[in-house]
Amino acid sequence: MGRSMTGVVQRSEHRDRPESDPPVLGGRLPVVGHLPRLLMNPLAFLASLPRKHEVTTVYIGGRPIYFLTSHRLVRSLLTGEAGAFARGLVFEKAAKVFGQGIIVSDGEQHRQNRRLIQPAFQQHKIERYVEIMRSVVEKRTSAWTAGQPFALNAETHETAVEVLTRTLFRSDLADRAADNVKRAFPGIVAGIAAQALYPYAWMEKLPLPVNRRYERSAALFHDVVKAVIAEQRKNPAQDDSLLGTLISARDQDNAFSEAQLRDETVTMLIAGAETVSTTTAWFFHELAHHPEVERRLVAELRTRLGDRPISFRDFRKLPYTAAAINEAVRLHHPNWFLSRRAVSSVTLGGHRIPAGGEVAFSLSTMNRDPEVFDHPLRFDPDRWLDGRTDDLPRSAYMPFGVGKHKCVGDTYALAELTVSIACIARRWTLTHQPGSRVREVPWTTVQPADLVMVAQPRRIA
Ligand code: HEM
Repeated sequence: MGRSMTGVVQRSEHRDRPESDPPVLGGRLPVVGHLPRLLMNPLAFLASLPRKHEVTTVYIGGRPIYFLTSHRLVRSLLTGEAGAFARGLVFEKAAKVFGQGIIVSDGEQHRQNRRLIQPAFQQHKIERYVEIMRSVVEKRTSAWTAGQPFALNAETHETAVEVLTRTLFRSDLADRAADNVKRAFPGIVAGIAAQALYPYAWMEKLPLPVNRRYERSAALFHDVVKAVIAEQRKNPAQDDSLLGTLISARDQDNAFSEAQLRDETVTMLIAGAETVSTTTAWFFHELAHHPEVERRLVAELRTRLGDRPISFRDFRKLPYTAAAINEAVRLHHPNWFLSRRAVSSVTLGGHRIPAGGEVAFSLSTMNRDPEVFDHPLRFDPDRWLDGRTDDLPRSAYMPFGVGKHKCVGDTYALAELTVSIACIARRWTLTHQPGSRVREVPWTTVQPADLVMVAQPRRIA
């Protein structure tokens, strides 16, 4: 059987397998389902799901989630068969803040808006953003105090918000916006994470502090962004900010409406901040545990850049730095839980998914699959340079996703990671505060909790 009018999905290697309902994971409790186990240690729980069926049913309260444990099925979900699926649970809960931004929209609306957004991420734009990224990171890191412990994740979060607001907004409007965005962020992140895991939808209506704060924070976020848009629309000429590009974007007869501009701007701010900030923080956590990697990284930066400030043109001269960044994205991927919803009943990998069924997958656990990566928990940049990963199937490593919802900010993200890491590593050595124990906390992204580090000026060897 191939693909039917109802969107039936069938991979060739499952052609001979009779269709069946995905097996339900054992240990399901009344009312709460598997939620307590998921909450206790989300990454360990997802990594423990049996591989052999490729799809396992996990219950969050009374709601079944069809969890994919095969990277080939994930790729097929995101590409060839993407038409059979819409955005799912996680994105729906985030729609209160994202509105109709591309990360939550689908179909023709998504296609049209994505076409309008893409020019804002062309190479010549990224080259300009790189200058802004460098000036933000240099300004912030020059204010660090040697020997004083600080929470690295909080610092990288603030840096990422400043980078985004300064690239998105006109420079005279960016600072005020950044302060308000930083203020609203925690309530939004907590709200999305909590509501995605509520076992029952009516819980969103309860007057719980987390729900109320989510609404207040989303309103503040929207007000800030609306005010900046109104200012920037008054004078769009020569506005080379990312938002300026969106304001002037035209495709055939299409342009962004006021509301859509707000939603896309909010989307960039939220999708772009946590992902880059957590990856940067995890990078320095690993570097502190791997002095040989640090030595090689700093040697490459010295040899290739000398005393010059880093620019976009330098990136291709830094293969070891790029491999180390790729390895941090693999080992500490921010997206631990992504989802899609079946628009009609479909068959995926020989398993029946009913209409409306929620299908989920975790890039965090996929990237630690021992069947794909040798010593998957080891931070080993050389795996990307010595041929070990040359023959990986395309589905085995998809750090920015694939298909129509593939990350629109992938080049921007890699540019920011390269600039931040180069600027910090050239100037500072970061070590863990003695006694600190870093934990992975899957929130909207996988956060490094209790990552307290101490910076010392790097000595020239
Ligand atoms: C380490 C950094 C990043 C990683 C690992 C990452 C990863 C991803 C992944 C896996 C997706 C696809 C999600 C899905 O298929 O459901 C995605 C989508 C997206 N990302 Fe990123 N991302 C990063 C940084 C950024 C940045 C910096 C921006 C913006 C400046 C951004 C904006 C977006 C947007 C708007 C989407 C939705 C695209 C669409 O639905 O058409 N991301 N990202």
